[in-house]
Amino acid sequence: MKSRNQYAEPFRIKMIEPIRQKDRETRNRLIEAAGYNVFNLKAEDVYIDLLTDSGTSAMSANQWAGMMLGDESYAGCSNFFNLQQTLEEIIGYKYIVPTHQGRAAENILMSMFVQKNQEIPGNMHFDTTEGHIRLRKALPVNLVIDEGLKIESNYPFKGNINLEKLEKKLAESSRDEIPMIIMTVTCNSNGGQPVAMDNIRKASELAKKYQRPLFIDAARFAENCYFIKQRDIAYKDISIRDIAREMFSYADGCTMSSKKDALVNIGGFLAFKNNEEWYEKAVQIQICYEGFRTYGGLAGRDLEALARGLLEGIEEDYLEDRIGQVHYLANLLTKLGVPVIKPTGGHGVFIDAKSYLPHLPQSKLPAQALVVELYREAGIRGVELGTCAFGYVDPQTGNEIQPAQELVRLAIPRRVYSDRHMQLVANAFSSINARKEKIKGLKITYQTEIMRHFTARFSPADS
Ligand code: F0G
Repeated sequence: MKSRNQYAEPFRIKMIEPIRQKDRETRNRLIEAAGYNVFNLKAEDVYIDLLTDSGTSAMSANQWAGMMLGDESYAGCSNFFNLQQTLEEIIGYKYIVPTHQGRAAENILMSMFVQKNQEIPGNMHFDTTEGHIRLRKALPVNLVIDEGLKIESNYPFKGNINLEKLEKKLAESSRDEIPMIIMTVTCNSNGGQPVAMDNIRKASELAKKYQRPLFIDAARFAENCYFIKQRDIAYKDISIRDIAREMFSYADGCTMSSKKDALVNIGGFLAFKNNEEWYEKAVQIQICYEGFRTYGGLAGRDLEALARGLLEGIEEDYLEDRIGQVHYLANLLTKLGVPVIKPTGGHGVFIDAKSYLPHLPQSKLPAQALVVELYREAGIRGVELGTCAFGYVDPQTGNEIQPAQELVRLAIPRRVYSDRHMQLVANAFSSINARKEKIKGLKITYQTEIMRHFTARFSPADS
């Protein structure tokens, strides 16, 4: 990868959106009123918003121009056919089911395949994927390789699935017990870590051997392809487009939240390589929950922006700059001694809150405490991916099950912030470093059964 000062952003800025930093006293008041949950803050009270890279991209002039060409016909709008053609070119799949976002595509897929008491293996499911599986009283099973959970390991493809474990699961079960496999590329839940081509190919061979369909969660497929090009010598001279084509050829279908690598603010789709029967079944569900097959919950203009964004999202200079910025922030934080997941992933910097705040046991929610502290310090909004997001109360025993990792994610929106914003994030850490031993833990005062981190409320833990 080129160093950050060898190139500048491959775009210039045409339109700006003002942001302002509230004073410290106001920030303290606002975060307390929000129940110490940054999801409850108003966006205008946030200075640098790193809550998510989802739906937060800046669109290009070409995408905005496409918005004016929205064909808002209920059936057969031209933008759908543009999208279909673009996807056929990039991923090579024939059947496209547009949806309003990624989780809607998951809903359709899970309605088709998942039933009570089944297990759904994958490298590491995202939280909405887990939610859809659990809602159907089935069990999500994460089989990411051991290296994938070692914060310090520099293994280049930490999103890989453990193929031995996968084979064992498939060999010991019937299709009624394990109806499908999902590979998430890049793997958001352990740090935006890529999956190797070889790993996807071998997972696909196992899927074929045991006759189970393999689906890709393609939210960040372009970033995954960029890492394959960077980290696997065999792909160094292959274009991102060809890498994508090969990667998707190993699966039977995919879901995509287009709010990530397709550079749009809303949208998603479900796609099948060649199974018409699945497609027709999916369309029935789509029509009930999303809309007719050619718009699926999106306006024609959104479909057009999506078709154009998909092409921009696989441009190599764009990907170099985008991933370069994430790595730039990670390097600044590493120099300050902040423990970040290595190697740096695609869409954000992930901080190991357990080792950054070793005085706080996991029960005192160190990652959530750090998220709160960042907001207090500079109005920066990150997100907890630890006990609140992935822990849960075991329905059988009533015990709290804690996840292995306790992370804070600083997700970087695409084409939105400059490197000076990144420097400001690093400055905030520099100030927090000086007083981090004094940071107090939190406790949950309100939670829901599923995906509690969105709605939970907290208060300072008793010391
Ligand atoms: N799959 C992955 C890997 C995701 O990261 C997300 C969303 C989804 C599916 C669901 O897509 O939001 O369009 O319904 N991730 C966002 C995030 C919310 O912040 O990481 P969606």
